[in-house]
Formats: sequence, structure tokens, C-alpha cells
Amino acid sequence: MACLLSYIIFFLTQTVLLLSPTAAQNTGNIPVGRSLVAATNGSSWLSPSGDFAFGFHQLPNTRNLFLLSIWFAKIPDTVVWSANEGNPVPQGSSVQITANEGLVLSDPQGNNLWNTSNELSGVGGGVSYGFINDTGNFALKRSSNDNPVWQSFDHPTDTLLPGMSLGSNEAISSRLSETNFTTGRFQYRLTSDGTMALNATDLTTGYAYEAYHISDISNAGHTQRFVYNESGYMYILRKDGSMYNMLPENYTPSKDYYQRFILAFDGILMLYSAPKTSVTDGWSLFQITPRNMCIERAMRNLGTGICGSNSICSLNADKRPVCTCPLGYSRLDPDDQFGRCKPNFKLQSCEGNAAEISMKDEYNLVRLTNTDFTYNDYERVSSNNEEDCKNACLKDCYCAAASFQLFGDNSGCWKKKAPLFNGRTDSSVTDGFWIKVRKANISNDPLNPYVNFPPLTAKNKTKALNKVLIGGSVSVNILLLTAIGLGIFFTYHKKQLKGFDEVQRKTLRAYSKVHYFSYQELNEATNGFQEELGRGSFGIVYKGMISGGGLSTFVAVKKLDRISGDTDKEFKTEVNVIGQTHHKNLVQLVGFCKEEDQRLLVYEYMSNGSLADYIFRDSKPSWIERVLIAQGTAKGLLYLHEECSTQIIHCDIKPQNILLDEYQNARISDFGLAKLLILNQTQTNTAVRGTKGYVAPEWFRNKPVTVKVDVYSFGVLLLEIICCRKSVCMDLFEGEGAILTDWAFDCYQSNRLNSLVNDDMEAITDMIRLKKFVMVALWCIQEDPSVRPTMRTVTQMLEGLAEVPDNLPCPSSFSVTTQY
Ligand SMILES: *[C@@H]1O[C@H](CO)[C@@H](O)[C@H](O)[C@H]1NC(C)=O
Ligand SMILES: *[C@@H]1O[C@H](CO)[C@@H](O)[C@H](O)[C@H]1NC(C)=O
Ligand SMILES: *[C@@H]1O[C@H](CO)[C@@H](O)[C@H](O)[C@H]1NC(C)=O
Ligand SMILES: *[C@@H]1O[C@H](CO)[C@@H](O)[C@H](O)[C@H]1NC(C)=O
Ligand SMILES: *[C@@H]1O[C@H](CO)[C@@H](O)[C@H](O)[C@H]1NC(C)=O
Ligand SMILES: *[C@@H]1O[C@H](CO)[C@@H](O)[C@H](O)[C@H]1NC(C)=O
Ligand SMILES: *[C@@H]1O[C@H](CO)[C@@H](O)[C@H](O)[C@H]1NC(C)=O
Repeated sequence: MACLLSYIIFFLTQTVLLLSPTAAQNTGNIPVGRSLVAATNGSSWLSPSGDFAFGFHQLPNTRNLFLLSIWFAKIPDTVVWSANEGNPVPQGSSVQITANEGLVLSDPQGNNLWNTSNELSGVGGGVSYGFINDTGNFALKRSSNDNPVWQSFDHPTDTLLPGMSLGSNEAISSRLSETNFTTGRFQYRLTSDGTMALNATDLTTGYAYEAYHISDISNAGHTQRFVYNESGYMYILRKDGSMYNMLPENYTPSKDYYQRFILAFDGILMLYSAPKTSVTDGWSLFQITPRNMCIERAMRNLGTGICGSNSICSLNADKRPVCTCPLGYSRLDPDDQFGRCKPNFKLQSCEGNAAEISMKDEYNLVRLTNTDFTYNDYERVSSNNEEDCKNACLKDCYCAAASFQLFGDNSGCWKKKAPLFNGRTDSSVTDGFWIKVRKANISNDPLNPYVNFPPLTAKNKTKALNKVLIGGSVSVNILLLTAIGLGIFFTYHKKQLKGFDEVQRKTLRAYSKVHYFSYQELNEATNGFQEELGRGSFGIVYKGMISGGGLSTFVAVKKLDRISGDTDKEFKTEVNVIGQTHHKNLVQLVGFCKEEDQRLLVYEYMSNGSLADYIFRDSKPSWIERVLIAQGTAKGLLYLHEECSTQIIHCDIKPQNILLDEYQNARISDFGLAKLLILNQTQTNTAVRGTKGYVAPEWFRNKPVTVKVDVYSFGVLLLEIICCRKSVCMDLFEGEGAILTDWAFDCYQSNRLNSLVNDDMEAITDMIRLKKFVMVALWCIQEDPSVRPTMRTVTQMLEGLAEVPDNLPCPSSFSVTTQY
């Protein structure tokens, strides 16, 4: 009887739908027993306004595959939710609303494929009807007064719609590809510590990598939910009721627009909106996070990078990552656009007889423009021109690629080993990368459309040769230090290192691990803590020397004294976080010690002291040196804010904490320590940290402390670097000029930059840059944190890659420095 009844209902439904397929019932409730059948131009259940549809969505380019899903009915191909773990079903499958199991999806033979029985809250189903409402939520209800027993908003797939929210540790997951809706590699979740994190997982092992992007929140914790409310506002709601806005700063939601927030299959979060009144305009994209999937941090926390080994990441015009194989390589799995690339030739071998090894003449190095593969370096060659560098690689059977740069993070000649990881092409990557290919095979290589044959422009080899050996040696220092750390390690464990490969492997593994020193070792290394290098906010720093494996090097040993006694775990966590940072503009942590009450940190030794000594001494350093120091410091901060694995807010940027290495590179020190101070960061931010003259106004206002506090301090620092004077200087300048930040704005407004730099001729002849730098500084010290640029923008403006907006507001209505 029931069967007959439902057949009749089914028949009636179909009839009604046949009569007017698009105007399917839009009166709301769909009673138990109703069903839909998967068919081309089949019917669906519409929300009252007709904005959303529930039913079988035919997958594009397939004849007979249908996805049980919810989609925007007025805008084509915008699926917002899918059932059955994203697996499509064949034509003739059906879905029915039942009292006990809720939604039941069956194949054409009537076998159950998926149902909501396990997800129904409350005992025994008792569903009486379903409905899809105008928010895009499909709900099953017992009666109109009850809460839904099941609703699609509680089981989100890859899209968030206004009205949805996520609790702690709840996530949305990307789909596998644009057209395959099964679960993909990426997740966006509210972490238990109250940030929104983007993670990648390895689909075969399920391993979750560390986040490749974390929302910009310090003082996280006490978080309740991630809310995308019905008006389209998106925020993190804390237990105390405060909200942290997650929408782009200048975006105001409107009820005249549809909105959706999707974690795309390539790991990018996108916020879309479309005008309700003219849906034919389609979707506009408002935000894309992270902005660049190919940057260092994103790459490192995605396993082998977003692209597989030997593959190169770049952004297309829509800022979406694209993976391409280098010349001479092709995709291992032609259908996997994020997969590995394999060489179309036999790689040069180090096995076998001399004849084979000496086949080097068979190979050639081909230049790839604006490209690099990072973290593949195994050896640095001392050559100071391209030709020598290329020859060194050609001669070496291990060498699969080489890079040669005059400046920057990777300067010098580096040999790289196969397979190559973390490849990227970006206009910000300096040319100077060659990949080894076999000559015989390259000519008949099927032309890879993405890899352009770069013009071999003759480089100006006389250019600044005195600088050639600069930056790269920093990395060498790190390697050396690591090797020394290992040396000690191995001496203690009486182990013998074997072949070259093993050393490399261990060195690289140890690269991200911090060495543990005993107090006795450090006591010896510093000769009983004799030579004091300085006193910082956290304790005294001593000079020391560590040796091992026949090598020795100077280190700076910092004895921490303001760290509370019972934060053992925190200390180790922080040490690990600090130890994982590697950047040319940061002072590298080499090791640490924790014995009873003693806590010590061991850093690379910086032979040229602090920036404070350098710029505030009587003879000014040259303008160009100062420009480089400012740019370097900005890059170091950018790394801390956006590119290292855990975001670090420095909280105490000042010239005393910027050190200079032997090549005058700016290196930020003391980062990552703010969290360890006795003051509990999560409970109060009223206790001001930082140093007078450099602290941002929000410290005083009980406002959340974000990375923008560092931007503020950087602004002050930048002015100091420009002017070579301290930010507050009451004695020298009576009244006018005592407060550098105010003085700088006055001078800028009245066009008196000459007096600001005290008639520094080098700076004045470089007026365009000088003005730019002053403006950047003034943007950084804006009272409203949201008006301050991010360090990424600052870096780009300082390097001339972005324009500095000239609608500069007055930095603040009052001067922070006078608050003391
Ligand atoms: C589906 O509808 C389209 C457009 O109305 C029509 O061209 C097509 O023939 C229909 N297909 C079937 C199988 O009914
Ligand atoms: C509903 O799905 C479960 C598995 O999730 C299955 O065991 C059960 O048999 C299904 N119910 C029906 C009526 O097919
Ligand atoms: C639609 O569903 C959501 C989530 O259950 C609910 O909050 C909202 O009130 C519903 N709106 C309407 C118009 O029924
Ligand atoms: C989606 O991808 C999975 C995993 O590769 C595969 O098993 C499934 O057949 C794909 N589905 C479609 C519709 O292509
Ligand atoms: C995601 O990233 C966070 C932060 O790095 C990490 O704590 C977490 O374990 C990762 N994995 C998952 C599944 O959340
Ligand atoms: C959504 O949040 C905004 C900002 O907090 C608020 O103004 C608005 O009233 C909220 N809308 C709803 C439906 O709760
Ligand atoms: C590469 O060239 C060598 C020598 O001409 C040839 O033997 C080999 O088959 C080629 N390999 C491929 C993959 O084309």
C-alpha cells in the first residue's frame, strides 16, 4: 500500500514536473515520499525565491553522470553542496525523502547508494518533510516547530554560504578537481587555538601537513565559532563575544548580492559575489587567499610543493597555481595536472664505468627564465661567473640543475640534485637557473607550450663583483653551523658518518631541527660566560665558540632571564618555531639549552654588531647601504609574518634588534621570544611589550595586537634609517623635530625632505626613492592598524615593485611617544 502510494506520488510529481519543468514546486515543503530522478533536463526542488535548487546536477561533459547536489539555480554551474561524498550517480538514479532514513539515494536498480540515516539527530527519524530555503540550506524536519533533524549546512563540502558556521576543528574540504567532487587535498578549518588554517593532506596516507596559510590573529584562543552570518559578514566569534573580521577590509556585504566562499581544488580560498538583479553578469571574485600559492611558505607546507617533483609552479592570470614541466620533461600522469614530471631522457648517471660517467658531453644546460627550484642545493661552488658555474654542474654527474645569482637570497653558484622540488616561476625570481638535459633528446622534445626558450641575454658581468659572494654565504654559514652541530652530535654518539649522500641527508634533516646543548658545553664554549656582547630585553648575550668535526665557528649565546619558570613545554615549542625559521634576513638559531632554571639560546654570531650602533654613530653609513638594510629588514619581517611555518609577530622591532652580518646584511634578532615573556599573551594585551618610541597605539587601546604592530615599529625604524637619528631626541631638537614621526610628516607635507635628512647629499640626489621611503614609513605609522600596509606591500613598495599611494593621511591625531 505504502509502495503504491509512493508510486502514485512519484507519478504525480513527475507529471507535474513534466508539465512545467522549471517551475518545480517552489512553495517550500516537500513531504515524505517525494523523489527526484536523475535525467538530462530533469527536475529539481527549488527554494521559495528560486535562488537555490536541490536535485541531480548533470556533470558537464558527461552524458549520464549526475551529482546529487545543491546549486545556484540562476547562475549556471555553481554547485555549493554535494551528497554521496561527491561521487556522481548514473542516469535513472533517484533520491527520495523517507521518514526513517531522511534522504535516500538509490541507483537505477533501487539499491541504496547513500542516505542520511546515520546523521539524523534524535532517535528514530520521524521526518515529515524536507525543504530548501533561500539560504541554500536543505533541511529535513519533523514539524515546523522543531529544529531540523538534518540539514546540509551541518555537512558542508567545499563551499560556505551566508548562514553557515564552523565550530572548533570543523572544516570544509576542497574537491579533487574542477569536475571531480570527491574530497581533495586541501582543508580550511577553525583550529582549536582559534585561527583559520589552510592545510594540505596527502591523499594516500592521510597525513596532514602544517598549515600553508593561517589567518592573521594574535591573541587567538577563547574562540567559539567561525561565522558567515546571513547578512554575509564573516568573522571569528570569540567566547567573550568579540568578533574578528575575516572579510577583505574594504568589502561590505549587501543583500542585493549572492555570495559564496569556496575552497577551490587547487587550495585557494575565494570569495565570490554576483548581483541578484542581473545574474547574467555572473560571479565577481573578491578575495583570493593565499595570494600566491607558489611562495616559499606555501610550498614548504604542501609536502613537495603544490606541484609534484620536477614540476614548476606559477600563477596564471587569475592568480591560480599552474604546474608545468620544464623543457625536456613531461607529466608522469598526463591527467594529473599537479603531479610529477619525469625526464624524457636518461639522467646523467654516476654509476657504472668511467666511459658512462664521462658522457658529460652529451648533456647541456638550458636556461629557464625567472625560475628556481628551492631546497635542492647540495653544494655551493666558488665561481664568480655563469660560465664557471655551468661548467661545474656539467662536470658533476650528480648535478641536475644549477643556479647562479649575483645578489639576493640565493647568491653564488649552487648545484642542485634530482629530483627537483619546489619549482616556481615568478617575475620576482631573478634569472640564473639552468636545468641539465640530454642534447640528443632535446631537439625532438615535444614542445612544451609553457616553457619559453629564454633569450640568452648577455649579463653585465662587471656588475658589482665585489658583492658577488655575499648572500649565499649566509646559507653556507647555516650549513656550516648545522654541520658543526651534527659534528658535536656525532662525537657524542660515537658514530661515524658514511658516504657523502648520508651526510647530505642528515644535514638537511638536521637543518630544521635545533641542536640541544648542555649547560656545561655552553659554559666551555663561552669560556665561562666571559665576553659580553650586549644586553637585550631578554638577558645578556655572550660571545662563544663551538667546534666539532674539525670546524669551529663563533656563536652568540643568550642567557634568558625574564622567562617564567614553569613554561617548559612552551619554551620547547617556541624554540622549535624559532628553529624552523630560515631566512637571509634573520639571525639563525643554532641551538638551545634548558637545564634546571637555566635557559639559553645559541645564535649565529653577527660580526658587525647592531643597526643602532651603525646608524647612530657619528659617521653615517652610505645611503645605499641604508636602503639595502631597510629592504632587508622588511623582507625578514615579511618572512616572519607570512612565509614561515608559524606566523611570528616580533613585537619589539627597533635598531638594537637588527644586527648586521659580516656583509652588512640586516638580520632580525630576538624574534619569537615575545610569547615567552612572563606576561601571558593570551589573557591580556594591556601590558605593553616593546620599546618606548616604537610601540603601536593599539597596545594602549586594549585592541587586538596583530602583525600590524610590527609594521608600525618598522615605520619608525625606517625613519630612523633614513635620517640616521633616534625617534625621540629631546636634547638635540627643542620643540620642532624632537619626535621624529611628527617631524617626518611635517617635512613631507611642507616638502622639506632636505631638512629631514639633514642635507644628506647622497639621499637628496636619490630624491624619488627618498620620498618614497618617507611615504612608506608614514603609511606604516598610521594610527589605524587597518590603514597600515602589510609587510608584503611594504617590501614591494621599498623595492619599487608597487606604487606608494599618495593620499597619505596624517599618521595620528596625537603622538604615541608623548603618552609616556
Ligand atoms: C534539454 O534541454 C535543452 C534546452 O532546452 C534541449 O536543447 C535538449 O534537447 C534537452 N535534452 C533532452 C535530453 O531533453
Ligand atoms: C543507509 O545507509 C547505511 C550506511 O550508511 C546502510 O547501512 C543502510 O542500509 C541504508 N539504509 C537503507 C534503507 O538503505
Ligand atoms: C534557512 O535555514 C537556516 C539554517 O537552518 C535558518 O537559520 C534560516 O532561518 C532559514 N531561513 C528561512 C527563510 O527559512
Ligand atoms: C574522481 O577521482 C577519484 C579518485 O581519483 C576517482 O576514483 C573517481 O572515479 C573520479 N570521479 C570521476 C567522476 O571522475
Ligand atoms: C593543520 O595546520 C595546523 C597548524 O599548522 C596544525 O596544527 C594541524 O595539525 C594541521 N592539520 C590538521 C588536520 O588540522
Ligand atoms: C551579521 O553581522 C553583522 C556584523 O556584526 C551585523 O551587523 C548583522 O546584523 C549580522 N546579521 C545577522 C543576520 O545576524
Ligand atoms: C634519447 O636519445 C637517445 C640517443 O639518441 C636515444 O637512444 C633515446 O631513445 C632517446 N630517448 C628518448 C626518451 O627519446
